[in-house]
Amino acid sequence: MPSSPQPDTQSDTLSTTATAIAPGSIGNVAVGYDVLGGAFDAVHDRVHIERIETPTVEIASITGCVTELPRRPQANTATVGLLALVADRDLPYGFRVHIHKGIPLSSGIGGSAASAVAAMKAAQVLVDPPLTDDEVLHYALQGEQIASGAMHGDNVVPMVYGGVALTRSLDPLDVVPIAVPDGLYAVLVHPHMQISTRSARSVLPDAVPVHIAVQQSANLAALVAGCAQNDLSLIGRSLHDVMIEPHRAGLIPGFDAVQAAARDAGALGGSISGAGPSVFAWCPDEATAHRAGAAMRRAFATEDLDADVWTAPVASEGAQRTDAPVEA
Ligand code: HSE
Repeated sequence: MPSSPQPDTQSDTLSTTATAIAPGSIGNVAVGYDVLGGAFDAVHDRVHIERIETPTVEIASITGCVTELPRRPQANTATVGLLALVADRDLPYGFRVHIHKGIPLSSGIGGSAASAVAAMKAAQVLVDPPLTDDEVLHYALQGEQIASGAMHGDNVVPMVYGGVALTRSLDPLDVVPIAVPDGLYAVLVHPHMQISTRSARSVLPDAVPVHIAVQQSANLAALVAGCAQNDLSLIGRSLHDVMIEPHRAGLIPGFDAVQAAARDAGALGGSISGAGPSVFAWCPDEATAHRAGAAMRRAFATEDLDADVWTAPVASEGAQRTDAPVEA
C-alpha cells in the first residue's frame, strides 16, 4: 500500500471544520480499463465541511465550473460516503458540505470521484478516531458508484494515494502503486463537450475476443514493466488500447487526429482519458507535453471544438487537506 500522511488530529483537538482538495485523474491509462489510473493535479475539486449538531448531511453550496448537481445528499457523489460514515459509526453529529468544482462534468477527468474523495479527505479529521486513508477510499468509492453506475478504482484510488496506481482488487482491497520514470509528464486536452461515463460504458461489448484480451494483457504488463525499468520506448510501444478505445473513439470528433498529433509532437502515446471525451498523452518531459497539448488542441479545432489544455507530472499529488479559502 502506498505510504500516505497519517491523519493529524487527535480526539482531544477534534476539528469542527476541514477543507480538502482532490486532483483529477486519468483513468485506464489506455490499457488498464477500470484498474489503472493516475492522479492529475492540474485540476482539483475542493470540499469544505463543517460539523453540525444533528446526525445528518446537508449540501450548503455548490460553486465553481459545475453547479447543476444533485442537492439531495443521497444523490450527490460528495455526500453519499458521508451519509454512510454517519450511519456506520452511529455518529451523534453530522456534516454541512460546501462543494467547489474545478473539474468539468462528464469530461473523463474523474470529476465526480474527485468530489467524493475531497469530501472524505476533509471528513478524515472530523471523526474520532480519524479515518485511515483506506477508509477514505472505501467511502469515496460509494460516492463514485452513484455517478458511474459501477464501482471501479481507476479514478478514486490514485486520487487518494497520488501517482499511478493499479487496483488488483477492490474487495479485499489490493492496490499497487506504480512508480514512473522521473520527469514523465501528462498532457490532457479537454474538448468542450460531454460524455457521461454511463453512456461510454454502454457502447462497450459484453465479451472480448481472446486475441484482443491477449494483446491488451501484453500491453498492460509491458507498460508496468516499462515504468519499473525506466524504459520510455517500451512505455510508448505499450500505450495502445486495442480493447476499449476502438469502441469509444467514434464518440469523440477528431479522436484519431488528436491522438496522432500527440505522437507527432513527441508524446510517448496516449488515448481517451477515463470514459472521455478528454484525450491524454504521456510525454518524456514538460516541454514535450506543452508542445503535444498545442498540437492536440489544433486537431480538435479542425472539428470546431474548443479545448482546454492542462499538463501535470504523471507522478501527481493525491488529495490533501488545505487552508485555502472555500471559494478560491
Ligand atoms: N474506467 C472508467 C471507464 C472510467 O473507462 O468507463 C473512469 O473510472
